Amino acid sequence: MSDNKRDIYILGIESSCDETACSVVKNGREIISNIIASQADFHEQYGGVVPELASRMHVDAVYPCIKDSLDKAGMTLDDIDAVAVTYGPGLVGALLVGLSAAKGLCAASGKPLVGVNHLHGHICANYLCFPELEPPFLCLCVSGGNTQIVVVNDYCDLKILGRTRDDAAGEAIDKIARVIGLGYPGGPKMDKAGQGGDINRYSFSSTHMGDTLDFSFSGIKTSALNLINGLKMKGEEVDIKDFTASYQHHIASVLAKNTIRASKETGISKICLAGGVSANSFLRAVFDEESKKHKLDLYYPKLGLCTDNGAMIASAGYFEYINGTRHGLDLNAVPSLKL
Ligand code: KG4
Repeated sequence: MSDNKRDIYILGIESSCDETACSVVKNGREIISNIIASQADFHEQYGGVVPELASRMHVDAVYPCIKDSLDKAGMTLDDIDAVAVTYGPGLVGALLVGLSAAKGLCAASGKPLVGVNHLHGHICANYLCFPELEPPFLCLCVSGGNTQIVVVNDYCDLKILGRTRDDAAGEAIDKIARVIGLGYPGGPKMDKAGQGGDINRYSFSSTHMGDTLDFSFSGIKTSALNLINGLKMKGEEVDIKDFTASYQHHIASVLAKNTIRASKETGISKICLAGGVSANSFLRAVFDEESKKHKLDLYYPKLGLCTDNGAMIASAGYFEYINGTRHGLDLNAVPSLKL
């Protein structure tokens, strides 16, 4: 299949939460196939991901996804150089399904196994969208479970400069979305609800973490709850459009403030966004504006690559593979894996 001997094809498998995904990526940058089976519609009835049900659905979906991604790429396992798989962080049962499938493929084919940190994958989604993008850069990783400012010194040399001390930004959005009746998945629903709303109508508290680049979102979440309850007690309605616009703009501003400070402190003016919340239009708007003001080069993945997918895992797997990373078939899932 490979017409050029130097081309490296990685099969990437992702199953850390509620998406079963598999992809073939060439040389870490070019998506050949990208299959995603999302369970979001199923979990909606429960108001969130039910871990045990997620694991069972991954079992049903994982082999069809792998087969589809190879078929779509016009390849077989023989054409693949290595199998990359998310081994953490995530839900343990869900992770084990993708990991077991990857190990099975490697055991049967003799191909190398490369375990990938899911957060490294999110960062690598940017390489898939911007062929010219190279480290060093700063990356704000914002997802349902994590909020971190990472300095990417090299493709596999990552260091956390700041992180949330409590809730992730995605969690702060999802929980408030549920309280105001938007349901699950809260992030995209709140994004839609706030379109055209007044970002200055409602205000929320901010927590400053001293001299650090760390974040705290639980106080912001509480101030949103207090605001909703206070209005209710006065018999007033929350204006959903203005409330969600103000809330998302506030969270985006908090995220931008520390990221810009990190840029000033490190002297790195290239900034990437990554993770599910990087799909948020308020976040993108704040970063677009701030990056112009501070003369920063800003990158964010196209929408479909912000949330969980196999292509980002294959991309991270490529960089790990050429860096010499190989895992044994005894690799285990690590639900709280750190970068
Ligand atoms: O990265 P991701 O798909 O999974 C994790 O690794 O956590 O992120 C999921 C998070 C959820 O909190 C979801 O509500 C949020 O990303 N999200 C959004 C948007 N799309 C997804 N949050 C705000 N606005 C969006 N458009």
